[in-house]
Amino acid sequence: MRVCAVRPITAADADAWISMRRKLGPDWLVGDLPAMWREYIEHGTIHALPHCVFIARHPITSEPLGFAEISLREFAEGCLTTPVGYLEGWYVEPEARGRGVGSALVRAGEDWARRQGCTEFASDADVDNHASIRAHESLGFEPVADVRCFRKRLSAP
Ligand SMILES: CC(C)(COP(=O)(O)OP(=O)(O)OC[C@H]1O[C@@H](n2cnc3c(N)ncnc32)[C@H](O)[C@@H]1OP(=O)(O)O)[C@@H](O)C(=O)NCCC(=O)NCCS
Repeated sequence: MRVCAVRPITAADADAWISMRRKLGPDWLVGDLPAMWREYIEHGTIHALPHCVFIARHPITSEPLGFAEISLREFAEGCLTTPVGYLEGWYVEPEARGRGVGSALVRAGEDWARRQGCTEFASDADVDNHASIRAHESLGFEPVADVRCFRKRLSAP
């Protein structure tokens, strides 16, 4: 039996996606999920990037198991082509992990990116998210850069 059924989300998946998206965080991305949902359904974008969001459900009970948000980015660290398929949000419910659900979601995302003409697929993970880093490596991603991010508040001129 397949571990899960994976397909692009539709209007019927709104509650499941929003509920799982809240669990993924981080806080700044969880801001206004209903608005993100409307943007996706109306324009096929999230934060103005073209997206395809996949949901994985249990093959018999249809219970939601996880999702992957795949975008097209003009540039991705370490990549040589443009546009690049990009794994943005990737989440599997804790009790469903380690059974191939995450892999099935990434495969669906890779197939979508191929259909958009991409020849590279990229992603990122926090440096202390060791499970995600190992899962990326198991799925054939090669590490290309460790980046330290900075911010600075700009005072009014
Ligand atoms: C990362 C995540 C999506 C993986 O989902 P999953 O369903 O457990 O993944 P799979 O079972 O398909 O495993 C995929 C591969 O990664 C490996 N893997 C998964 N979790 C792992 C872990 N904790 N440690 C080591 N390897 C791991 C698996 O062994 C498998 O490799 P294999 O095909 O060689 O056996 C899931 O752990 C998750 O939702 N984590 C919390 C959210 C998160 O960190 N998301 C990523 C943000 S960058």
